[in-house]
Amino acid sequence: MTDPTADQALLEEKRLFPPPPEFAAQANARDPEIYARAESDFEAFWAGLAEELEWFEKWHTTLEWTPPHAKWFLGGKLNISVNCVDRHAKGSRKDKPAILWEGEPGDVRTLTYEDLYREVNRFANVLRGLGVQKGDRVAIYMPMVPELPIALLACARVGAPHSVVFGGFSAESLRERINHCGAKVLVTADGGWRRGGVVPLKKWADEALEDAPTIESVVVYERIGERAHISMKEGRDYWWHELMEKAEPECAPEPMDSEDILFILYTSGSTGKPKGIQHTTGGYLTGVYATTKYVFDLKEDDIYWCTADIGWVTGHSYIVYGPLANGATCVMYEGAPDTPERDRFWKIVEKYRVTIFYTAPTAIRTFMKWGDKFPNSCDLSSLRLLGSVGEPINPEAWIWYSSTIGKNRCPVVDTWWQTETGHILISPLPGLIATKPGSATKPFPGILADVVNDQGESMPPGRKGYLVIRRPWPGMLRTLWMDDDRYRQVYWSRFKTMYFTGDGAVRDEDGYFWLMGRVDDVMLVAGHNISTMELESALVEHPAVAEAAVIGRKHEIKGQAPAAFVIVREGYVPTEHLAFELKNFVAHKLGAICRPDDIIFTADLPKTRSGKIMRRLLRDIAEGRVLGDTTTLADPGVVASLKEKYAGDET
Ligand code: WT7
Repeated sequence: MTDPTADQALLEEKRLFPPPPEFAAQANARDPEIYARAESDFEAFWAGLAEELEWFEKWHTTLEWTPPHAKWFLGGKLNISVNCVDRHAKGSRKDKPAILWEGEPGDVRTLTYEDLYREVNRFANVLRGLGVQKGDRVAIYMPMVPELPIALLACARVGAPHSVVFGGFSAESLRERINHCGAKVLVTADGGWRRGGVVPLKKWADEALEDAPTIESVVVYERIGERAHISMKEGRDYWWHELMEKAEPECAPEPMDSEDILFILYTSGSTGKPKGIQHTTGGYLTGVYATTKYVFDLKEDDIYWCTADIGWVTGHSYIVYGPLANGATCVMYEGAPDTPERDRFWKIVEKYRVTIFYTAPTAIRTFMKWGDKFPNSCDLSSLRLLGSVGEPINPEAWIWYSSTIGKNRCPVVDTWWQTETGHILISPLPGLIATKPGSATKPFPGILADVVNDQGESMPPGRKGYLVIRRPWPGMLRTLWMDDDRYRQVYWSRFKTMYFTGDGAVRDEDGYFWLMGRVDDVMLVAGHNISTMELESALVEHPAVAEAAVIGRKHEIKGQAPAAFVIVREGYVPTEHLAFELKNFVAHKLGAICRPDDIIFTADLPKTRSGKIMRRLLRDIAEGRVLGDTTTLADPGVVASLKEKYAGDET
């Protein structure tokens, strides 16, 4: 565990950006009393928000808190697809676009709420036709096409927890997740488009299914056609369009208990296998609905665009459930930001007159590097609010985002949260809170966050510590799928009654939170959680590798990049060719996002007396702080001598 108090990062940017008066005047949250009101009775605060949703039956108890397990809205019955679709399709939003979809090759589709209603109902019937019943798990491995949110909502309609696996993950990762959650059906596509190439999802799915005995049927959406060259397995694989043609247009929604599972989403842990984060229905929906309404200030006429992939929690909460629960119009884009040109995102903003834009610091830094000419050549005047998520945003990127994209008119909301938290927990309310570049500012109303030391004592301003959450919130994970012990151990063992986030943080004199990154062995690569352990386990499966240690080193664009220190086995020679092979090996095993940027061969790994790898020293080496020139690492004795030198610096 890295000591969060060790790193002397300074708060570089002290300027305060108050909400623009014209924005503040119209904001959904414009009465500062909202904070005091939520604080005086947080249960009543959340209950008031839950009342804005549609329930078949109202709850009798708002919260039951038996640490570390929370239940929200007990006794309540609802269906999320009804809240996200029926409510709008049956009312005044019938003809309002729900999804404005832009395919990478330039094909477009608009789905109104009525269209969405029809598709969701039919696909829900398809699932029922395949024998899916309430409680059965459905795995989803899809490109960013409208059928992806349709599949999620259809699962919600029939009460089948979905487990979405990001399309960039490998066959092996897909198989591991399918087997862990015991999915009965897999929904996939013949492929997706990425930078003009085909992402062969069906091929990878076939590979995964060679050893996935719980899967009974596979539904394949045709996105690519001929060029995908896929094969369909008789009796197992069905075309989406063929099943949909035969499906009835109405499907009665399953009445779900507040605490019935909505989805399982896997995220990397600091040790071992990915964790199946388990989210339920009533609390999660309340949390994403409320935060979308107040953090993104969503209004009837907004055109909202979150650039995440639905394979990650950001897409679950802020492309699908939060915005649709608010009846929003959402832009959805399939491809890469530089295809066909580096202005693609800004062209999309211009074309659809996007008003609210939510992306990640890694993307912002990439755009910065590409230069202002791309955004400057497009009309971005429709934008009124900008959001950031995934990792700490450096002040320089914040300022660029605010000025070059937001033209100094748009509040920037830096939103801190996690797969586990379900929804945003720390973020400015854009009409009320003056922002500071690089700070996620204040907890959302009703959230009690704190910065504590090892003993769990609150740290005074300016002192770093661990970020914890001191009381339950509606969208919090309920447990880890099939592993409650690990749930207790990971989140509730360090501090018994406080949720441990795994992040380091510091508060300033104004009570603003500054996030300092992970304090465990999780890297944040382009805003995605990647476990150093998982990469290490993958590497040692290669016959040439005797031992491996992986750290996240600083990276200009991605925030962090995986760097692997590798000891080769007897008889193998550490060559550039082998390094290349190892990178590909990891990418193949875990997916391209896990590909190490550096392979550093070494004869030894620096370890503490208790045998723990000295990751901080490795990080210093990889970032050039110790050696200056990392190439000298080719000298096998180097790491050993460093260990001597830094013997007192155990982490
Ligand atoms: C970790 C959670 C939440 C959706 C995307 C990532 C880091 C996330 C911020 C932010 C500083 C942030 C944290 C957190 N993180 N947002 N605004 N400022 N750090 O979800 O994969 O579960 O990762 O991302 O380290 O613990 P995730």
